[in-house]
Amino acid sequence: MIKICKTISSVRNQVMEWKRQGLTVGLVPTMGFLHEGHQSLIIRAAAENDRVVVSDFVNPTQFAPNEDFASYPRDLKHDATLCEAAGAHLIFHPEVEEMYDQDRTTAVHMTQLNNELCGKSRPIHFDGVCTVVSKLFNIVQPHRGYFGEKDAQQLMIIRRMVRDLNFPIEVVGCPIIREEDGLAKSSRNTYLSAEERVAARVLHRALTYGEELVRNGERRVPVITNSIRTILEEEPLASIDYVELVDANSLQKMDCITGAALCAIAVIIGKTRLIDNFFIAPEELQ
Ligand code: PAJ
Repeated sequence: MIKICKTISSVRNQVMEWKRQGLTVGLVPTMGFLHEGHQSLIIRAAAENDRVVVSDFVNPTQFAPNEDFASYPRDLKHDATLCEAAGAHLIFHPEVEEMYDQDRTTAVHMTQLNNELCGKSRPIHFDGVCTVVSKLFNIVQPHRGYFGEKDAQQLMIIRRMVRDLNFPIEVVGCPIIREEDGLAKSSRNTYLSAEERVAARVLHRALTYGEELVRNGERRVPVITNSIRTILEEEPLASIDYVELVDANSLQKMDCITGAALCAIAVIIGKTRLIDNFFIAPEELQ
């Protein structure tokens, strides 16, 4: 059976013991209710490290009061089975009280990158993510941390934080895992009704069209984002939060694609907010 640690001291002791033996450690931070997207990160971490820690913690500081912290799905038993099958060695599953002292006064604050894309409708979100990921990095002290490209802005922010705050940790980005019909796997997909689940296909359909335009030589950002918008608007159950194509390093808007770019969308289907994206690498522009 996979080891489940609920306290900071127990996970620290285990990792210290592994490091004494000269073993490398990979960390996969998650909020649980694991699916094949998370699994792909764990498999990659297990291939690249001697030991893998999965943190399974629904982090309250990254949810606004009107968001789904209380109802976020949880299933530790299922998570433990998936982690073990994927090659993880330890699950860190703390209570909120173990992670956050009531009288805490310190947090990590990101600037600029957190004001764009998802940050506009979720203003406290990325500070919460940076704070909890910093704490997890300090608790586990892994050699490598694994994050999905599904949350592209989160991955960029973590990379920037690791650079800015000198964490001696390699950040590894992993590709988006999708359902057969193209919908990016997400713990929040379980919120969708049968009808909404069908409607949710529109995200991938719209992005695929946008990607095709770029591949066929289109470089004008408004042309690409408007085409994506039009497809999304054809779906009556979908309402758009944002459709943006931005510089992949600064997340700033641009008129024309000239270098690495990120096309990201957030769409609300019923009550569920879904995100998806594609990257444009400079070599694809030649
Ligand atoms: P969570 O949403 O559980 O996701 C954990 C990790 O799995 C993230 O790095 C996310 O990008 C990755 N992931 C989720 N779905 C994926 C998919 N379909 N394909 C590839 N990777 C996928 O992201 C968080 O938790 C939290 O913000 C966290 C970083 C744990 C901090 O609390």
